[in-house]
Amino acid sequence: MKLSVIGTGYVGLVSGVCLAHLGHEVQCVDIDAAKVDRINGGECPIHEDGLPELMNGVLGTRFSATTDLGEAVQNSEMTLIAVGTPFGEERIDLGQIESAARAIGEQLATKDSYHVVAVKSTVVPGTTETVVLPILEEASGKKAGADFGVGMNPEFLREGVAVPDFLNPDRIVVGGIDERTVDVMSQLYSIFTETDVVRTTPSTAEMIKYTANSLLATLISFSNEIGNLSAAVGVDVTEVMEGVHLDHRFSPILEDGTRVRPSSLTYLEAGCGFGGSCFPKDVMALEAHARAAGVPAPILAGALEINALQPGLFVAPVIDALEPGASVTVLGAAFKPNTDDVRESPTLRIVPALVDAGFKVTLHDPIALDNARSELAQHMNADDLEYQADLDASLKSAAAIVVVTSWDAYRTLPDMVANMQPQPLVADGRRMFEPGKFARYVGVGRPLAKS
Ligand SMILES: NC(=O)c1ccc[n+]([C@@H]2O[C@H](COP(=O)([O-])OP(=O)(O)OC[C@H]3O[C@@H](n4cnc5c(N)ncnc54)[C@H](O)[C@@H]3O)[C@@H](O)[C@H]2O)c1
Repeated sequence: MKLSVIGTGYVGLVSGVCLAHLGHEVQCVDIDAAKVDRINGGECPIHEDGLPELMNGVLGTRFSATTDLGEAVQNSEMTLIAVGTPFGEERIDLGQIESAARAIGEQLATKDSYHVVAVKSTVVPGTTETVVLPILEEASGKKAGADFGVGMNPEFLREGVAVPDFLNPDRIVVGGIDERTVDVMSQLYSIFTETDVVRTTPSTAEMIKYTANSLLATLISFSNEIGNLSAAVGVDVTEVMEGVHLDHRFSPILEDGTRVRPSSLTYLEAGCGFGGSCFPKDVMALEAHARAAGVPAPILAGALEINALQPGLFVAPVIDALEPGASVTVLGAAFKPNTDDVRESPTLRIVPALVDAGFKVTLHDPIALDNARSELAQHMNADDLEYQADLDASLKSAAAIVVVTSWDAYRTLPDMVANMQPQPLVADGRRMFEPGKFARYVGVGRPLAKS
């Protein structure tokens, strides 16, 4: 199938490259000319394992990037909209979606053949049919259903494992205004013969995506609340959750007596808060949407509230334990390992809190320091700390080490810290370590050591 993808971010680029790898002819469009040049030059603008190899395998044959949306739409049978949908002041900001839809509609005006436009971005229920569809009709002067199809095809990939996620989908959701649209959208994924396909309406597809993200975010906040409470009552949340997870509805027992430990249980582990470009903004958007609709949504509001508190609660023992002026090393800027994405990372709250408390802060991350510097500039004077790409150097003379991202490179921290004098306080925001591995340790959901 000939496909155009609008937006070359994490979703647009990964989807475009993977669909080309699977045999489709794909042109990705972006308004960022520098990004387009990098892609066409064979340089992947985002860090995602396996993506550069896959991209260079199809570049120039079945895949290319362009700033010319018109050409891309005219030369394709279907367009996926994968632009950003940030949370604005009070609700989801649909500005990028609206301008992409308008530009696509203007092209449909002069296109003779049937074309399907599908929203891949995460949008609140109703957006595809009440915002995108009218813009397409107005800009094209044509009728949805008769002249072109409109649909919604949410994306479930996770950053850091985006390529394997896209190539091994657990489900495909295709919501369309009519059967013809859904058929065309399904064709795009027909190679996945073993995968469940949900054929539905655009609004249901939109709601499936929000519900999935909100459920996972709520599980994390629930676990954090229980973790904070466990620590306060002197028990370790890890043991608590092990006991809870043995419920056969979480860990089913197979006929041969073995247990299945679903990976969803990783969302039921306490940590220093969720971040990234999806969970925070998606839960905020759904909660705001519920409020606007007059539907009470205290669980969504609570999940957000706990998440806002969690980074501060996590670093409070560090701030209490040290004198102002002490050196503190923060390990990890990315919101999770294997990505350079720092959007809404707990680090963006933890670093300013430590700087405000008067500490000399050094921030380490294997790949996300450039992104961290530009994001931190929105929260504080970004030069009020040291950025250090060398892990050993970042730990030098640290009075406390605050682990925020569970990068594999940090697993050897106990060995790296063993000979430091005096022994630093290690604050473990991801419960990566056994408490006994360090002379001085505090961990999320773990009781404070008695001194
Ligand atoms: N990042 C994820 O893990 C993930 C997963 C699932 C769904 N989503 C959703 O997918 C959407 C995109 O997310 P992302 O992380 O890829 O965003 P992103 O910010 O990384 O990328 C968006 C891209 O769209 C481009 N763009 C904006 N307006 C444009 C226009 N009019 N024409 C062409 N290009 C334009 C931007 O320049 C940018 O490169 C969002 O709705 C997000 O919620 C993201």
